Parts: sequence; structure tokens; C-alpha cells
Amino acid sequence: MTVCEYRPGLEGIPAAESAISHVDGQRGVLEYRGIKIEELAEKSNFLETTYLLIWGKLPTKPELEAFESEIRYHRRIKYRIVDMMKCFPESGHPMDALQASAAALGLFYSRRDLHNPAYIRAAVVRLMAKIPTMVAAFQLMRNGNEPVRPRDDLGYAGNFLYMLNEREPDPLSARIMDICLILHAEHTMNASTFSARVTASTLTDPYAVVASAVGTLGGPLHGGANEEVIAMLEEIGSVENVRPYLDNCLERKSKIMGFGHRVYKVKDPRATILQGLAEQLFEKFGSDKYYEIAVELERAVEERLGHKGIYPNVDFYSGLLYRKMGIPTDLFTPIFAIARVAGWLAHWKEQLEENRIYRPTQVYTGYHESHYTPMEKRY
Ligand code: ACO
Repeated sequence: MTVCEYRPGLEGIPAAESAISHVDGQRGVLEYRGIKIEELAEKSNFLETTYLLIWGKLPTKPELEAFESEIRYHRRIKYRIVDMMKCFPESGHPMDALQASAAALGLFYSRRDLHNPAYIRAAVVRLMAKIPTMVAAFQLMRNGNEPVRPRDDLGYAGNFLYMLNEREPDPLSARIMDICLILHAEHTMNASTFSARVTASTLTDPYAVVASAVGTLGGPLHGGANEEVIAMLEEIGSVENVRPYLDNCLERKSKIMGFGHRVYKVKDPRATILQGLAEQLFEKFGSDKYYEIAVELERAVEERLGHKGIYPNVDFYSGLLYRKMGIPTDLFTPIFAIARVAGWLAHWKEQLEENRIYRPTQVYTGYHESHYTPMEKRY
């Protein structure tokens, strides 16, 4: 066995062989099963893209219709899950509520038959169908309202917005949300996907796989960055303050949220698409001063940090879009999770196909042959 040198964050070390997605960080290319993200954002929809990611091919019309119909059928969540969620503190973060609810699904669907394609499909359908309902239900219940029943006549993104806002979304917002879900659905071996694969490799149930990945996605260096971007833009407050703010950050060596990426050394292609969508939304529903601030910040960061390969990542413009749709900031990461469940499940399925439990090694830096110190001799 080759012994590798220790690399913090496993940077550059392959953790799996995967045929699901590919990133070329130097050229700013992202492909799902070989199809460029720009093409999927233009021509596909989120459920079709989910099918592509999980089953490795674009569905035929009957296959897609069957998948959509199964998802519609399973959108509702059990009363006992709703009751459980009602006991969550209203002040709790929706990502924590989502993690707990996703894990709780495992209590109700505990039969584990990982070699059976029908079991895999049923778990995929349940998780894809119920996660948006759980996110919307927590949002309504923490504000003292009853959850809204899903509507079968609405598409995946449109129904989610309907359950969240208790009113049918306009078609542009529904389509933009659908594209946002496509863009966030999968992204090679990032932290939450790695987490999902490690959990999957123990042959536990898929609800535990998704719950562990949700927990990992929540951190500010991963999915949580889109919330921090809005806080940062609000703190900047005006276009004039962009450069002084940036100077101050660089002096303090603090990170600019929504910028930089372990893999991309150019602008993240998803950020480019999201920026275009933001412009469409602002054109239709009125401009947003925070968008002007964001564009100026991108310009200033490129001037100062472009040479280090620091450009906007997927989190930079997504929050502005969600904000314009009236979505509270702390739901941005749960929306990321709704999308990424597709990628996590694709990796779960792929991991099961040739499983070997993850068991890396470590570089031990501690003591040897120490002795137990009696309490009175400790200091
Ligand atoms: N602002 C300012 N400088 C940055 C930033 C940033 N956002 N990102 C990286 N740098 C600089 C670092 O200071 C470092 O400079 P140095 O070499 O002079 O010390 C260099 O670029 C390399 O940075 P690392 O932190 O080593 O890069 P790493 O690959 O470990 O980090 C990460 C990537 C975590 C995304 C980082 O860029 C970051 O913290 N960004 C802000 C948070 C964010 O937007 N996260 C979302 C990422 S996308 C996603 O998870 C969906």
C-alpha cells in the first residue's frame, strides 16, 4: 500500500471514484453526468436532473412522468413527524430542524434492503418528496401557523414556494427556484457529500446518510456561506463603502463570504448563471441596492484577489435571489439542502454499488507510554 503524506482537509486526495459530476476548476466547467451545467439550467428541470444524477441517464418521457408522479404522491409527511417538529424550539435554526426531521424519517421507514433497487427508489422518492415539505412546515410552524398541504398541480419548486409562502408563486420565481435547485444539486466530493459517502459506507439507512450530510452542509465554510453573504452586504450598506470594507477585511485577514473555492480558481459557473437570474428577477420585480453592492464587491475583490484565484462562488448571488423572493435568510441553507439531497442520494447509490467502509488512517502526534496521574498530583 502506498503511504501518502498527510494533507490537511484531504486537499487533492481522491476519496472515491465517481461518474456523477465533474469540475474543471481552472476552466470554470461543471458537468453532471457529462452534461454542462449551463445546458441543464437552460433545458432541464430539477426532477429530470435528479433522475439523471441518480440513475445516470436522462429519463424517457414515461420514466420522468412516473418519477414525478411518485414524488407528488409522497410529498405529505406523517402527522407524527409534524407533531415532533411542533416541539422544536421556534428559535432553532431550520438546518437543525431539517437534520432532526430527516433522521426521524428513518424511524418510520426502517426496513433496510440496500441491495434491492425498489428499496433504493422508494427511499429516493421519499427523501426527495418530503424534505421540501419539512422545510416549509418548520418555517410555518415556528411562526405559529399550521403547515400547508402540498399541491399536486404544482411542480417541485412551485409547490415548495407555495408551501412556504401560502400562495402560488409567479411562474418566473418558480422557474428561477427550479434552476437554483438544479445548480445546487451536485458538486463532486465536497464536505457534505464526503460526509454522506462515509455514512453510506457503513450500510446504514439513507435517512441517516442525508441527516449526516445536512449537518455538514450547515457550516459557514460550506452551505452556510450564503446566509453570511447577506449579513456582509447589509454590513457594507452602500456601494461607496465596498472598498473601505474590503480593505478592512484584508487587513484583518478575514475571509470575504461567497468568494473563493477549493477547486474553482475562476468564477464559479453557477455564480455566473445565478447572477443572470438575479438580473431577470430584479428587472421584473424592481432593483435591489444590495445587488449593486454585490457587483461592486465582485469587481473590487477581483482587482485585489483575482491573482490568487479568488472569485465569486455559488453562494455569492444565490442569497440575493432568495431574498428577493421574500425567503428568510436562515432558509437559504435548507434550500441548498433540498437541492443537494439529489447529489447525496446519487453518491449513496454509487457508494453502495462498490462499497468499502471508509477507514482512513491518521498521523499520531500524541504521547506514548504515559501513566495515570492520581488526582492530587494533577495541576
Ligand atoms: N476572502 C479572502 N481571501 C480568501 C478567501 C476569501 N473568501 N478565500 C480564500 N482566500 C485566500 C486565503 O486567505 C489564502 O490566502 P493566502 O494563501 O495568502 O494565505 C488563499 O486564498 C487560500 O485560501 P484557503 O482558505 O487555504 O482556501 P481553501 O481552499 O482552504 O478554502 C474556502 C476554500 C473554504 C471556500 C474559502 O475560500 C472560504 O472560506 N471562502 C469563504 C466562505 C465561502 O464562501 N464558502 C462557500 C464555499 S462554496 C460551498 O461550499 C458551497
